[in-house]
Amino acid sequence: LDALTTELRRIVGAQHVPTDRDDTAPYATDWTRRWRGATPLVARPGDVDEVAAIVRACRAHRVALVPQGGNTGLVGGSVPLAGEIVLSTRRLERLGDVDALGMRVVAGAGVTLEALQHAVAPAGLRFGVDLAARGTATIGGMVATNAGGTHVVRHGTMRVQLLGVEAVLGDGSVIRHLRGLRKDNTGYDLASLLCGSEGTLGVVTAAALRLIPTPRTVAVALIGFATVDAAVRASAQLQHDVPGIEAVELMLRDGLRLAGAHLDVTLPAVAEAPVTVLVEIGVAESPVDVLAAAVQGLEGRVGEPAVAIDARSAGRLWRLRDAHPEAAAALGVVHKLDVTLPAPALAAFVDQVHQSVRARAPEATCLVYGHLGDGNLHVNVVGPGVTDEIDDAVLDLVVEAGGSISAEHGIGTAKRRWLEQVRAPGDIAAFRAIKRALDPDGILNPNVLLA
Ligand code: FAD
Ligand code: MLT
Ligand code: ZN
Repeated sequence: LDALTTELRRIVGAQHVPTDRDDTAPYATDWTRRWRGATPLVARPGDVDEVAAIVRACRAHRVALVPQGGNTGLVGGSVPLAGEIVLSTRRLERLGDVDALGMRVVAGAGVTLEALQHAVAPAGLRFGVDLAARGTATIGGMVATNAGGTHVVRHGTMRVQLLGVEAVLGDGSVIRHLRGLRKDNTGYDLASLLCGSEGTLGVVTAAALRLIPTPRTVAVALIGFATVDAAVRASAQLQHDVPGIEAVELMLRDGLRLAGAHLDVTLPAVAEAPVTVLVEIGVAESPVDVLAAAVQGLEGRVGEPAVAIDARSAGRLWRLRDAHPEAAAALGVVHKLDVTLPAPALAAFVDQVHQSVRARAPEATCLVYGHLGDGNLHVNVVGPGVTDEIDDAVLDLVVEAGGSISAEHGIGTAKRRWLEQVRAPGDIAAFRAIKRALDPDGILNPNVLLA
């Protein structure tokens, strides 16, 4: 390790290779505090050549590394749990000029989502993926996890925004395809392969990203329902009837109260409903009439919806949703499950999951919220008696219902033991063959995804 440390210091400069425990500790614990490890050093390269040199050096010394961006990942994939070194991409912050005609931009892996959002806004453009960790989550990490977030229902996941990547593979070679053309069928889609690979195949160093026009007007409504079933039906009806649906998010009364208390804000009256759905529409002309008519037609509603037609009040409603993860984290170390259910199974699942948690850990808090429009629920369990057994019980329910055990956060280390149950043997064999080809010595994130 001493020889490797010396070599890494030569590559990136001693100031970018911290080894003191105090300096490395923040890189070794994840956002949830559930996943805690330790690392002998962190390497912080400033460009792709330095990343390649680090990967080659690690390969030569047979030392494993964990690529890390903003460290906001929620499945224990971004931290060194078995003494790996950390390769932090945060200095890869170069942001190219916004191509307003082509509606695209090239962003370094370390650019935060928020920095990207600010950079493209003056051109009347925006980025299609948004999530509450925007201030810290990086483009590289979002590519690596194929992040989803709140606007997938309209614009798709990270993979859909990706026009090309630059990356250093596990064998130390560099792939680069950043022309960023909308149509480009010139061989294997390596960007798509790296997207969702959770740092197991290559270190993403830059990405060519599609941008979309900012809608002229946006309206947000928080609509109350008596049951999850009514909310599921409303979600389908809204997507069917209303043009420009940007987001359909589910919250339950407990979660909304917790978020309101966490933010220290007064909730709108509709928050008293057992179930609320936050809907955003973005269109060229006044969306209010369209939204109002659609909301009137929804069955099973409770109370008067809270409606926002200016950015500031829309932001206030969105903050209630965005604060859910933080409000839950303030209760303790949360076991986070991130699942997709077929739409017809959603309502029963919400009931079953509460029952299942209550039976195993009666004093624990179970918070369910999520991206209803995509059938994606986040199950958060925190408090006394919460164990891995609860995770397994929740995921059992998901598999029985024909759902997915990871909608958007990935497998990481948290759900690795589940992978072989949910993917066919042929799929796993193909995963392993790809891993061997691109990372022959298995030095990239050896404890993530594949057991
Ligand atoms: P990290 O946490 O640093 O890493 C995540 C994974 O990617 C790890 O396996 C790591 O090894 C790998 N990785 C990181 N950078 C690179 C790179 N450059 N090259 C190769 N591999 C890399 N996720 C959603 O999908 N939707 C949401 O709505 C959402 N909301 C969130 C809200 C909050 C409050 C928080 C804390 C998290 C949320 N997340 C959400 C999870 C998280 O923000 C995303 O997974 C995000 O994509 C992680 O980005 P990051 O830069 O923090 O990556
Ligand atoms: C969200 O949608 O809020 C996130 O994916 C984070 C979480 O699951 O808490
Ligand atoms: Zn989410």
